Amino acid sequence: MSHKIALNFEDGVTRFIDADASETVADAAYRQGINIPLDCRDGACGTCKCFAEAGSYDLGDEYVDDALGEEEAEQGYVLTCQMRAQSDCVIRVPASSELCKTQQASFEAAISAVRQLSDSTIALSIKGEALSKLAFLPGQYVNLQVPGSEQTRAYSFSTLQKDGEVSFLIRNVPGGLMSSFLTGLAKAGDSMTLAGPLGSFYLREIKRPLLLLAGGTGLAPFTAMLEKIAEQGSEHPLHLIYGVTNDFDLVEMDKLEALAARIPNFSFSACVANPDSSHPLKGYVTQHIEPKHLNDGEVDLYLCGPPPMVEAVSHYIREQGIAPANFYYEKFAASA
Ligand SMILES: Cc1cc2nc3c(=O)[nH]c(=O)nc-3n(C[C@H](O)[C@H](O)[C@H](O)COP(=O)(O)OP(=O)(O)OC[C@H]3O[C@@H](n4cnc5c(N)ncnc54)[C@H](O)[C@@H]3O)c2cc1C
Ligand code: FES
Repeated sequence: MSHKIALNFEDGVTRFIDADASETVADAAYRQGINIPLDCRDGACGTCKCFAEAGSYDLGDEYVDDALGEEEAEQGYVLTCQMRAQSDCVIRVPASSELCKTQQASFEAAISAVRQLSDSTIALSIKGEALSKLAFLPGQYVNLQVPGSEQTRAYSFSTLQKDGEVSFLIRNVPGGLMSSFLTGLAKAGDSMTLAGPLGSFYLREIKRPLLLLAGGTGLAPFTAMLEKIAEQGSEHPLHLIYGVTNDFDLVEMDKLEALAARIPNFSFSACVANPDSSHPLKGYVTQHIEPKHLNDGEVDLYLCGPPPMVEAVSHYIREQGIAPANFYYEKFAASA
């Protein structure tokens, strides 16, 4: 039986390969044109050492302690010249995609829907035969080329890929290149080119409660993650706090309600920073974090939004004196 292995390179590029129990992950990667750094291929040198973020696997029993110590193996380190996958896995490769002789994949698709959800927010869906082969980890992003220009913009997937279709939640930045295209020119059927998937902000194996903090269209990666969680379930509680600046920035509430109905352990709240807001919950996301959400630090924290929001929340969390077990964040930085 073949398993899907996501190889995450240190430059943020992710490539997916197929591997079954008859071959090592390094051999499977090589067969599919990706050269994970290797030397001895014998479990002796440690050159091929990577970190398994998720999945079950057989480490092999031919390697020596100098190449992979017992403690390292317990932490999740693996020798890819020895390991064989027993399920889908996510593996962090401590080398660039270029060094491993690969690069991000590029896809052609067409706009299937573009809708202005509010003055500030656009929902874009694209579809194409090629996209049915696009695999990504929920939370990751792609670079979308702005039609009619050579420029690209990064967008996180807001859904999983279904029947060759994926969606995005995009802030309408007045005068912005992509924003102007989407609000002015874009129509169903227009072709778009995307490259990826990219990024280290993705849903890890859920081993403890999760606290998800979203700012504005920083909600996008979380709706993709929650779709995945709805499929696979979670025995741990999950709480999302979604913060926006103005009432009209608040979108996708129906989607969150629907996800809450599908995921028994999931709850969420939304707040609006503008003091003139008519929304019942006002203020910043940090004002709505309760001690139970931080669970004395036994929590994985995911944070995504515009850079000032991510910085403010990171600062707040540090000030609380509670170090979450894991803290993952993505900043929706403006392109250069
Ligand atoms: C990893 C990553 C993932 C991202 N994912 C998303 C996503 O899912 N959804 C999303 O909406 N955005 C996302 N972004 C931001 C996105 O890539 C673009 O920067 C944004 O959409 C603006 O593009 P534009 O072409 O419309 O404006 P541009 O032509 O790039 O910018 C026009 C002007 O507006 C300024 N500007 C750009 N963005 C902002 C902003 N947010 N606030 C204030 N001024 C701004 C620019 O500095 C420039 O002066 C992501 C960014 C990164 C790095
Ligand atoms: S290449 Fe030497 S241990 Fe794998």
